[in-house]
Amino acid sequence: MSAYPDGDTIRVTGHAEALAVVQDPETFSSKVSRFLQVPNGLDGEEHAAFRRALDPYFSDERMAALEGPVRQVARRAVAQVPMGEPFEVVEGLGVQFAVDAMLVWLGWSQDLRQELIDWVGENANATRSGDLERTTEVAQWFDDIIGRVVDPRAAHFSDPARDVTDELIRQEVDGRQLTRPEIISILRNWTGGDLGSLALCAGVVLHQIAASPAVESDVRARRADPAALGAAIDELLRIDDPFVSNRRVATRDGNVGGCPVAHGQRLVVDWTEANRDPARFPNPDRYEPEANAGGNLVYGAGPHVCPGRPLATLELRILLEEVLDATQDLALPADQPGVRAERPLGGWSSKPLVFS
Ligand code: HEM
Repeated sequence: MSAYPDGDTIRVTGHAEALAVVQDPETFSSKVSRFLQVPNGLDGEEHAAFRRALDPYFSDERMAALEGPVRQVARRAVAQVPMGEPFEVVEGLGVQFAVDAMLVWLGWSQDLRQELIDWVGENANATRSGDLERTTEVAQWFDDIIGRVVDPRAAHFSDPARDVTDELIRQEVDGRQLTRPEIISILRNWTGGDLGSLALCAGVVLHQIAASPAVESDVRARRADPAALGAAIDELLRIDDPFVSNRRVATRDGNVGGCPVAHGQRLVVDWTEANRDPARFPNPDRYEPEANAGGNLVYGAGPHVCPGRPLATLELRILLEEVLDATQDLALPADQPGVRAERPLGGWSSKPLVFS
């Protein structure tokens, strides 16, 4: 079954079934949390208005302007990886790079670097623990960090914007100014998406390259072509998607792939499983970037499809380019297999690799 009851919720693991859910936002609402989540937790026209205002932050022009600064950050991160010996790539490379790239993108102070690195670790631990009090505390900690960034800037509201964060503070939606809780929520969703998932993405991409000489030689052959390298990254994320799931709640009785769903029932759309559904990908492990691109659900689908995809792809591509340029070979250390992340996280929580 590609959609089935799992306790009180319906777990949706099929490719067609996941698409059916996320492309029918009237039946399957994103208002799953009692907390304000902009734009994730909004529906309908309210959601569309925020997407119209916020999607331009990820335009081609903005991404092109970020290429240079992000490359500097990636080069610095790769330069500190020791050659010829096992090195932890998720925490040691992915997290450091994700935090530095985010500081550059949003124009935040370097003073926040260590606190954000600590936060990523504690956030992963709290998520893994499933302890509601701990996850609430860690969410509050992040909101405090964002508040410390936003509040002093708001005092200079009438000055010209200096960076993306200043622009967001001045952003209008539907002819009105954003409220403080909305600004905090947007920044939380931007940075939460960026930090944790980007480090996990770096881990699964580098692991698969190190694990397969055929994949490594194909990826190296694509080095000079950014679009082709981006396609390879998307395919490696499809095979081992670390961004596991999103939630929905049914607004009426219905069914998904024949599985009855009651009004008010919660659903979990399992992207990792949907991206490996044999009905869509007969051999889910086979690396075929171009052939599988059309079915790739790593960044979701429907009105909530990931707006940050251009930024995530830019950051991952530049990090990979810098790794490829600095090395001739990526390998798995014989005696250090790494540790798989536990759901609701995906990918590797720890992955030592040898660069040479
Ligand atoms: C690193 C890899 C990333 C992956 C795999 C990923 C994946 C996804 C997926 C699957 C969704 C759909 C959620 C749903 O249907 O409920 C989503 C939504 C979203 N993502 Fe990403 N994302 C990534 C990076 C980013 C980045 C870098 C940002 C921003 C800086 C970002 C911001 C968001 C936001 C704001 C939404 C909610 C959109 C909405 O509800 O309309 N993501 N992402």
